[in-house]
Amino acid sequence: MQSKNPVVETAIKVCAIKSIVTKPSFWKENGGTRSEPLVRGDHYRKFLGDFSEETILSLPDKDKIQVVGVREREINKIFEDQVKKYHCQQVVILGAGYDIRSYKKNRANQKGKKHAKLYANVKYWEVDDKALLVDKAKRLGEDKNSNSVYIAADYTKIDLVGLLKKNGVDVSKRTLFIWEGNSYYLEKSAIQTLFTGLTKAFKDIVLVFDYFSQERLNKYRADIQEKLEAMDKLSPSRNGFQRLLDLWKTGFDDLTKFSDTYGLRVIRNQSTTRLAYEYKLVTKEQENKLNHSVCMLSSFKSLK
Ligand SMILES: C[S@@+](CC[C@H](N)C(=O)[O-])C[C@H]1O[C@@H](n2cnc3c(N)ncnc32)[C@H](O)[C@@H]1O
Repeated sequence: MQSKNPVVETAIKVCAIKSIVTKPSFWKENGGTRSEPLVRGDHYRKFLGDFSEETILSLPDKDKIQVVGVREREINKIFEDQVKKYHCQQVVILGAGYDIRSYKKNRANQKGKKHAKLYANVKYWEVDDKALLVDKAKRLGEDKNSNSVYIAADYTKIDLVGLLKKNGVDVSKRTLFIWEGNSYYLEKSAIQTLFTGLTKAFKDIVLVFDYFSQERLNKYRADIQEKLEAMDKLSPSRNGFQRLLDLWKTGFDDLTKFSDTYGLRVIRNQSTTRLAYEYKLVTKEQENKLNHSVCMLSSFKSLK
C-alpha cells in the first residue's frame, strides 16, 4: 500500500521486518545462537504484496531488524499476560499498522488452545490511517477477528476517548493500550495531550510502547541535517532525506518523571539490546547504540 504520508509508509516496512524475524534461521545467520523464531507465524506475508523482504535485508543497518523483532516479542508477552493473568478484555492498538495480534487470537487460530475462551472475550480497537485499514481488512478477508473494530483516524487530531466510547470501549474496564512503533513520530505536545486524555478517562489503564531517548533522536536528526547540508541543492536524494528528517520528532529521557506527570507507574522498562541478549539474538550484550527501549506503564489500580 502506497501513501503520501511517510509515517503511514513505515507500516509496510515494519511488517516486512516482522515477517523476516519469524524465520528460525535468521538469528543464527546474523550473529546469535537462537534457533527458534523470535515471534511465530507467517501471517505478515499476507500483507506484503509487492513489497519484498529483500528491500529490508539489503539495508546495511541490521540493528533496526533486531529492534523491531525484540519490541514485538516483548509487547506480545505483556499483552498475553494481561489477558491470561489479569483477564483484560479491552485492547486498543494505536497506530496499529499491520499489527496481527487480534488475528493471531481469533477463534480459528485459538481453536483447541488452552486460553481460547479468554481470548474469545477480548475486544480490539485498531486505530490508523483509513487507506491502510481498508488494505489490511481486504488482505485479511475472513481471517479478520470479528472482535476487532477498525477506527480510521489520526488519533492526535480527534477526540480519541470520545471516538473509542462511541465504538463500544468501556472506560471503567481495564484497558491495554498498545502503542508500538509510534512515539517518535509524534510532536511532544501531541503525546502530552494523548496521555492527559487517556489517563483522565481510564482509571485502570496499562500502556506499552517503545521509544528512543531524546538525545539519540537529536543525534539522528543532526546526522541527517548534516548530510542534507552537504548535498547538492538539485540532488534527487534531498527529498528522501528531508522526509526522514521530518519523521523523527520525540524521545523520552526520564520515563519515571514522564509517568509521574500522568499518575502512572513504570512497571517494566527494558533496553532492546538487553532483551536481544536475553533472547540469544546476540552472544554479547551490545552497547545500546540506538538507545531504544520498550516499556510498560500502568495506573495504580492496574497494579493490583
Ligand atoms: C512504524 S508503523 C508501526 C505499526 C505497528 N504498530 C507495528 O509496530 O507493527 C507506524 C504506524 O502508526 C500509524 N500512525 C502513526 N501516527 C498516527 C496517528 N497520529 N494516527 C493514526 N495512525 C498513526 C502509521 O500510519 C503506521 O501505520
